[in-house]
Amino acid sequence: MSRRTARIFTSLTAALCALAPVLMVRDAGAQAVLAVPAGLPDWTFNIPGKDQPTAVKIEGIIKAPGSAKQYEATKIAGNANPPDWFPDEHPAAPKVVTGGQGVRFACGSCHLMSGQGHSESADIAGMPAAYIVQQMADYKSGARKDNERMGPISKIVSDDDVRAAAEYFSSLKPSVFVNVIQTATPPRTFIATAGRHRQLLPGGGTEPIGQRILEVPDDPFRTEIRDPHSGFTAWVPLGSVAKGEQLAADGKCTTCHGATLKGKGEVPRLAGLQPLYVARQLFDFRFGSRGGESAAAMKSAAAKLSDDDIIALSAYLGSLPPA
Ligand code: HEC
Ligand code: HEC
Repeated sequence: MSRRTARIFTSLTAALCALAPVLMVRDAGAQAVLAVPAGLPDWTFNIPGKDQPTAVKIEGIIKAPGSAKQYEATKIAGNANPPDWFPDEHPAAPKVVTGGQGVRFACGSCHLMSGQGHSESADIAGMPAAYIVQQMADYKSGARKDNERMGPISKIVSDDDVRAAAEYFSSLKPSVFVNVIQTATPPRTFIATAGRHRQLLPGGGTEPIGQRILEVPDDPFRTEIRDPHSGFTAWVPLGSVAKGEQLAADGKCTTCHGATLKGKGEVPRLAGLQPLYVARQLFDFRFGSRGGESAAAMKSAAAKLSDDDIIALSAYLGSLPPA
């Protein structure tokens, strides 16, 4: 999508938002129109391309490797009834997470029952409960902007449900979910409409990475059926992991995020988060689309970062063990 189209979408969204909040909520599904805040790099937002050379087909009875469960594809489509492939791997989850009658946006549908989510959403496994509650409040107030997903969702979820979801996700233990690979020439990819994931172009070939981070599911089918055992590969520019480590040196990030960057008090874990997600957040802090009181420290930290610094820090953090 061009910057200009993105801007038109932004103003369209703003207009719709003002006129009909109900309409916005109805549109907050996986297929909602997406907008990149003007001035931010669109590769961090996974905006589907116009050309869709191939599509993953989710049909009939589906299964995930290693799971005893099976689902009818149509029953788990959308965001209200996510599959729970490995119920023995997590404690009992509240209804706002699992979905069911009366729930339109079950947290487990985008963040997975494991909490680790995909690169276009967020990994919230083991995050401090108070942090999750604070972020929901910031999305609700608009201090943190995500007009298509968390903005509308945060406005319809009750405080009790937010607390229950926060307690559930904070009790989960994250595992390695992304493999960071440094390369000058990753495979050619496109961003698929379904699931908003980057996928390999059928024709093959490679392209220069440029100033970007590209993330692809290791298995697009398993990612799309929300298999929490199937992770991602992130291609990052050569040398970016070491550069990121240097930028984070001397306690620049550990002071607040903990000695091993796994979080401290109410400050979130950074280790093992998806690089594409981290880059998006750092751009958002720098740009101002992620604000609020608790973000003040990050706003000033991010203001000093160049685009290259953001890419390097994201690559480095993604390469660290999350637990
Ligand atoms: C339709 C998909 C979808 C659903 C359903 C959903 N989320 Fe999200 N969530 C997202 C996306 C996309 C982001 C990343 C937005 C961004 O980049 O700021 C996100 C981000 C978040 C974050 C910020 C994470 C961080 O580390 O700062 C929290 C917290 C969160 N969601 C909680 C929830 C809770 C609780 C629920 C259930 C009530 C929920 N989400 C349901 C898509 C979803
Ligand atoms: C003075 C304390 C402080 C320092 C130093 C700091 N952070 Fe943060 N960071 C925070 C706080 C507090 C938050 C939560 C912000 C919010 O509530 O929105 C945060 C959030 C983040 C997030 C978002 C995480 C998520 O799950 O969405 C990223 C990414 C991040 N910091 C990266 C960094 C990096 C990289 C550095 C070092 C260059 C750094 N931070 C240094 C306090 C700090």
